[in-house]
Amino acid sequence: MGKYPNFLMEHFQNPKNVGEISDSDGVGTVGNASCGDIMQMFIKVDGNRISQATFKTFGCGAAIATSSILTERIKGATIDEALKISERISKEILSELPEEKIPCFTLATNALKLAIEEYRCKQVGLRQKKEFDSLKKEAQKIGKSEVS
Ligand code: FES
Repeated sequence: MGKYPNFLMEHFQNPKNVGEISDSDGVGTVGNASCGDIMQMFIKVDGNRISQATFKTFGCGAAIATSSILTERIKGATIDEALKISERISKEILSELPEEKIPCFTLATNALKLAIEEYRCKQVGLRQKKEFDSLKKEAQKIGKSEVS
């Protein structure tokens, strides 16, 4: 990573938030078609705020550095804020990266989007289950029996 600015070099040499969250609320896995590298991003959400964000990758130095920055900055953010932060970082970092390294950076942002999508799907599933359970209770109160 010879021609990279210092802040990227720092994150490449000392990446933050490397690893997996075993009880994550969302995981995003993406691949870089041009090099075959893979990125996984994990988020843990408490009360609509991202309490933890981590990543694992077989990617290059640019992928490692940008994932480290992204996971650092979205900690404590709401889901919507995290997506905006990701857009802001894109503008900030893309101008610093050589063009051929742009797909390496988008590995991190795309993995985050997928992790958030998974989190949101789980939330919808939980809401639907609650509604179903509540309707089931009402039905049982008036003597309806469940067919299974
Ligand atoms: S070269 Fe594969 S992620 Fe950068």
